[in-house]
Amino acid sequence: MGNDSATVRQATSADTEFVRAHTVPGPVPFVPEVRLRMAADAIALWETTERDRGREGLAPPFWAFPWAGGVAVARYVLDHPELVAGRRVLDLAAGSGLVAVAAALSGAAAVRAAEIDAYAVASIAVNAELNGVAVAAELADVLDGDGGPDAVVLAGDVFYERAMAARFLPFLERAAARGATVVVGDPGRAYLPRGRFTALAEYTVPVAADLEDAAEKATTVWALRG
Ligand SMILES: C[S@@+](CC[C@H](N)C(=O)[O-])C[C@H]1O[C@@H](n2cnc3c(N)ncnc32)[C@H](O)[C@@H]1O
Repeated sequence: MGNDSATVRQATSADTEFVRAHTVPGPVPFVPEVRLRMAADAIALWETTERDRGREGLAPPFWAFPWAGGVAVARYVLDHPELVAGRRVLDLAAGSGLVAVAAALSGAAAVRAAEIDAYAVASIAVNAELNGVAVAAELADVLDGDGGPDAVVLAGDVFYERAMAARFLPFLERAAARGATVVVGDPGRAYLPRGRFTALAEYTVPVAADLEDAAEKATTVWALRG
């Protein structure tokens, strides 16, 4: 391995228009260095998304909100820029692109953000522009690869479903095995394989009350053990 061979597509201009129409820019709580386009009401936007796509059962609009795991990783990266400075970074499952933007602001040599949701890819591009940084947003499932050639793999909040976790962990293990630094953020989701990680930092992160069962979440930044 060493490179991802997943097919990469781009978001359409209609996806970008949709993102702009349903979000407003503002500073991210706990990470005010980053501004994101965010939505006010998750459930309403979810319904609008299903109408727009003409399909039911779509994934929630993960891209319209910063998730606790991503907020924690972004905070950590901004406070420890040496993690990414001068290095190639992959933000895996980037959602809004919060972590990717934080890595770019912290001096990463190049930042790639991978997502399987076209709205997320549009959102990442819009948010990179909003923050005046370069992020290569890719609509691709890269999980069968090893994240190469990126030297740092960051992932915010990816262990909330069993099937997802079963693919993400082997991917992250392969990235670590080829020498990448792997850091994830997690607010105690059910499927985090905690025993494989070492805690780097813990934060109390404000979260959207309509998405979570609390106003704040204790969220840990974890490094995958080599
Ligand atoms: C809870 S959100 C986290 C978003 C962002 N990292 C954050 O912390 O704000 C999880 C994201 O994982 C993405 N995702 C799920 N499976 C994926 C895959 N195989 N490859 C890339 N992204 C994926 C979803 O589309 C969603 O945007």
